Amino acid sequence: MNSMTRYSPVLVLAMLAGCGSELAPEAVTATTPSAETAAVPEPTPAPAPAEEATPDAQARGQAAMREFGDRLRNELRAAMSQDGAAGAVSFCHDQAPRIADEVMATHGVRLGRVAVAGRNRNPGNAHGGWQGELLDSFQRAVNTGGAPESQMAVIRDDVPAGVELRMARGIRVEAACLMCHGDNIAPPIAERLAALYPEDRATGFLEGDLRGLVWVEVPSTTEARP
Ligand code: HEC
Repeated sequence: MNSMTRYSPVLVLAMLAGCGSELAPEAVTATTPSAETAAVPEPTPAPAPAEEATPDAQARGQAAMREFGDRLRNELRAAMSQDGAAGAVSFCHDQAPRIADEVMATHGVRLGRVAVAGRNRNPGNAHGGWQGELLDSFQRAVNTGGAPESQMAVIRDDVPAGVELRMARGIRVEAACLMCHGDNIAPPIAERLAALYPEDRATGFLEGDLRGLVWVEVPSTTEARP
């Protein structure tokens, strides 16, 4: 039998990071019933060139990424306990995009997740041009031993007018993701996925693979800030 169909407590807790992704793995493994305290680091801007450093925009981007991850985790936890794993598929379908919308409105940024080329589940999560280049470079780093979740980019040059900076972080495939993204998907989950995503290309991943990236685009203006 496929062991992924039995939800050990560890697996279920790890799943709570679910459809999610942008969560750092330490947040996944440290998730406890009081998860709001779990490994959510303060925004610590990565080292940036001194000229043109824009810590405020970077902090906003990081705060948005973090809130996106926290909300996916917390709300998916509720969906899991209420509806089980197959229900969580519907949660990812219905609520992940809504959560992204709300986080974007709150922080005045654009944000989302994209899959590595050709491996998206939701057609809307195929990468755009700039994300594709980053995915390529993240993938090269992973191929030579880098950790997917350690891949991070902050881009200030060659951004479109009106954009102050773009950020992205790699997403690692965790063991818990395999029940919905691996090779051996339990029938109730597979059926739900097939119904919602007839062109699903987001299965067959292995633990430790690069799944995609979470991206944020911070506009030059701050008009949408609360
Ligand atoms: C309960 C099933 C389920 C689990 C578990 C799950 N996902 Fe997903 N995942 C989905 C669904 C459904 C979507 C499509 C969401 C949408 O329509 O926007 C998705 C979409 C994604 C996307 C967006 C790109 C795309 O292909 O559409 C990423 C990235 C992702 N998942 C990563 C992960 C990672 C990493 C994990 C483990 C931490 C994980 N998922 C666990 C069901 C799941």
